[in-house]
Amino acid sequence: MWHYTLQCFECQRESPTREAGFRCKTCGGLLEAKFDLAGRRKPSWDRRHLSVWKYRELLPIEREESIISLAEGGTGLHRCQRLGRKLGLRKLYVKNEGENPTGSFKDRGMTVAISKAKELGKKKVLCASTGNTAASLAAYSARAGMECIVLVPKGKVAGGKLLQVTMHGARIIQVKGDFDKAFATALELADRRRELYLMNSLNPYRLEGQKTLAFEISDQLDSKTPDTVILPVGNGGNISASWKGFTEFQQLSITKTRPRMIGIQAEKAAPIATAVKGKESKIRPIHDPQTIATAIRIGSPVNWPKVLKAIKESKGTAETVTDLEILQAQRDLATLEGIFVEPASATSIAGLKKLRASGKVDPSETVICVTTGHGLKDPSVLERLPKSRTGYNLEITDRSDLDALERIL
Ligand code: F0G
Repeated sequence: MWHYTLQCFECQRESPTREAGFRCKTCGGLLEAKFDLAGRRKPSWDRRHLSVWKYRELLPIEREESIISLAEGGTGLHRCQRLGRKLGLRKLYVKNEGENPTGSFKDRGMTVAISKAKELGKKKVLCASTGNTAASLAAYSARAGMECIVLVPKGKVAGGKLLQVTMHGARIIQVKGDFDKAFATALELADRRRELYLMNSLNPYRLEGQKTLAFEISDQLDSKTPDTVILPVGNGGNISASWKGFTEFQQLSITKTRPRMIGIQAEKAAPIATAVKGKESKIRPIHDPQTIATAIRIGSPVNWPKVLKAIKESKGTAETVTDLEILQAQRDLATLEGIFVEPASATSIAGLKKLRASGKVDPSETVICVTTGHGLKDPSVLERLPKSRTGYNLEITDRSDLDALERIL
């Protein structure tokens, strides 16, 4: 590990790296790990296999024995020619984060944050979640032998995610209300009971793991920078961590430029997209957000200052998509490319379609859509599929039924 400090994202004041808490003690701003990269060269990591820990010099873990891992990262960057043709793009790639051990990108951050929790001597971990963070934390805390408590919005978490949390033995508290309520409760709990270590994306160590998404994209493209990277946005941890990753690779002269970052939100859960489109410097939280993409059903995203800065610095933008557009994009990706993602992940594809139609993405651009979670996480989508896709019901009792079946095929 190279030397780093924890700094306030707003006032740049340093916090001690042990027991820093999750907000700047002076101004209440978000914290960020800063590696001093001046004069540094790229480490000799080319022969290491693609994974989160390939980049361990740039991860804030002091001792290798602290690392708790389930083999995260190293996900595929898939060239999508058939879908690209449909969207009018020559170079479209999907970085499929559903290939991570618990089926979502959260594992990148979790392996680092749980390793840090171990290094800090923590025994109990806590998070609020729309489902994937909870599933990931439940798995990693089981692996680390820690106690785990997750707060989720009651009745609004996809079935696969609840199954994961339960299977890994975490304690589930179902909170009446939405994610924002669950998060506020988790914050208060962590404040009252100091032995509970908060693992939401307010935890700067988690975002350090998540930045490896950008490192991998750069490596998989042989250090060429894509023009545009499109991600779903909920709390905004992933898009801002990815931007940090692209920035660090540029500082190390591994890449020459940085891509444009585009965030996609669901139409009725879009505080960040609304602020970006309105050129506002702050977001206005949304009361009672709604979308079929339950993973990103968030009205008051905690990382908004980092997201607005990443989008502005990168000359990017944000877009909104409807539930129908999300479901259509989910099916397009599955049928044209064999990649099955959950609805929240499909927002990146749905958003790209809209941006192509409005001319904000050009046919010649190299575009990466990040798909953040596996399709099996949310089986409820089956009920939303057109009947023509869910199959025929045929009882085969005699030859005439077989003849009928043959005619259908
Ligand atoms: N995609 C999926 C599948 C997610 O689960 C999330 C966030 C996001 C995108 C958005 O990422 O918050 O970094 O902007 N899920 C969180 C959770 C909120 O609790 O699992 P973000």
